[in-house]
Amino acid sequence: MSDNIIKVPDLGGDGEIIEICVQVGDRVEAEDSLIVVESDKASMDVPAPFAGTISEILVKVGDTASEGLEMVKLSADTAQTKQSESVETAAEPEPAPESNPAPSASSPANAESETLVKVPDLGGDGEVIEICVQVGDEIDAEDAIIVVESDKASMEVPAPFAGTVTEVLIKTGDNAGEGVPMIKMKTGSAPAAAQPTASAEPQPAPIEPSQNETAKPTAAAAAAAAADSQIISTRNKKVHAGPSVRRIAREFGVDLGEIKGSGPRARILKEDVQEFVKTRLKQPVQAAPVATTGSGIPAIPSIDFSKFGPVKEVALTRLQQVGGANLHRSWLNVPHVTQFDEADITEMEAFRKAQKEQGVKMTPLPFIIKACTTALKRMPQFNASLNPDGTALIYKEYCHIGFAVDTPDGLLVPVIRDADKMGLQELSKQMVELAGKAQQKKLSPAEMQGACFTISSLGSVGGTAFTPIVNAPEVAILGVSKAGLKPVWDGSEFKPRLMLPLSLSYDHRAINGADAARFTTLLSKLMGDIRTLLL
Ligand code: COA
Repeated sequence: MSDNIIKVPDLGGDGEIIEICVQVGDRVEAEDSLIVVESDKASMDVPAPFAGTISEILVKVGDTASEGLEMVKLSADTAQTKQSESVETAAEPEPAPESNPAPSASSPANAESETLVKVPDLGGDGEVIEICVQVGDEIDAEDAIIVVESDKASMEVPAPFAGTVTEVLIKTGDNAGEGVPMIKMKTGSAPAAAQPTASAEPQPAPIEPSQNETAKPTAAAAAAAAADSQIISTRNKKVHAGPSVRRIAREFGVDLGEIKGSGPRARILKEDVQEFVKTRLKQPVQAAPVATTGSGIPAIPSIDFSKFGPVKEVALTRLQQVGGANLHRSWLNVPHVTQFDEADITEMEAFRKAQKEQGVKMTPLPFIIKACTTALKRMPQFNASLNPDGTALIYKEYCHIGFAVDTPDGLLVPVIRDADKMGLQELSKQMVELAGKAQQKKLSPAEMQGACFTISSLGSVGGTAFTPIVNAPEVAILGVSKAGLKPVWDGSEFKPRLMLPLSLSYDHRAINGADAARFTTLLSKLMGDIRTLLL
């Protein structure tokens, strides 16, 4: 166990540290968030480059997070870290000094040693579509070595440290699997960039359209940002641009396909995106891309309330602000309709209580999730998203369910992946685990991305119905209120039945009213006869 100083990687600019996500003694996994940095454009998590234990925290909230700033000391579990798998030093490794504490097996600290640089874990294989370096090139840490394209996205694989390229071992068309040798590099000195930046940098993340690339949106931003990046990265995947440029494009909502690159081999540069945005802003409003902010709506006047009595201003948390912006965007963009219904859960509740008596504790929510996944399979138009120009419905062949969790800082929506493949107990376990992580602010961005359908349950709180806002580009969301006993006529008499109120909000562009009523009727039926859920 050696202490490794983990530094802030290149985040595309400076930002303020708004949160320290770890404490001394915490055990972290590779990719767990260490700090959250907020710039004027975005907030992003800076993840741990490898698993280990935090031995010291070297920054505080409010510090400026510039590239190279020492964040934490991390004791690696073993000599092998994620990064050390991607970089091997040909020369005999020396023990890493305190000032250059990258794991010794991966450290380029030996002056003039030749280092074999391999493809890191990219979350999947891809094809090499470009070699960005030649023998003799002097490159900096983070300079692109190759560009890899999978069927979902393209990404640059950056140099883990500065040096001179002595041999290129990979060629276009090769499969870029983890561990494939890319280049050999001669390292001059051992600069700060010798830190394991390739894995500290969030961008070489899994090759998934909504989860790759640099900035990882925090908190509630994730669900909506995931949707955005999904659309944009799908559209942008064929263009020639690096991760930081893609990130900027995503932040501005720019389609890179519309931009002519001025870099080598028509590569799109940051300046090209900035120029494009400037030009667009100068154009008349009607020529602008589809409005996403309710343009034309008169602003709510700013009022000095202290004229009327004493006031106190309390800032919203970052999570509340980002979540609020996403809700506003969905509310303005999606023509919402809400369908109300009630499910008779008398039998379901009896079964749940019987299970509880036998020590299997479950709330109604796993049953509701199960009913939803079954209904989504039967009515796949609810397990879909509209394509960006509204001309087609994209049906998802997976079924990930988001569920709203109320936390002191605001609303979070963790996602249960492949919920349709789980039984009630597994759903309950996942739910408890994810809700716990949400409360402790431990959810990773990936755990908040990719939902097909969201459930917002206020059942433990109260209320008879509400109109939840669709988490666009999902097309529907189910609101659940508190179940209560009601007299229900069975044809000959009123019987007390436990009725669960359901509120299904949907995007009326994608779902018609009759289908929405069919969907809630199906849900009620499934929950009314839980044998259908257990099949
Ligand atoms: N009707 C009646 N009782 C209900 C119910 C319902 N619809 N849903 C839950 N309950 C009961 C549970 O059974 C449990 O009681 P029990 O221990 O006797 O079984 C109790 O309420 C507490 O349930 P809870 O711990 O809240 O679990 P849950 O599975 O219902 O919900 C979360 C888990 C994480 C979703 C929930 O805690 C949460 O954060 N909800 C808020 C979501 C929100 O804010 N949505 C609004 C978005 S705008």
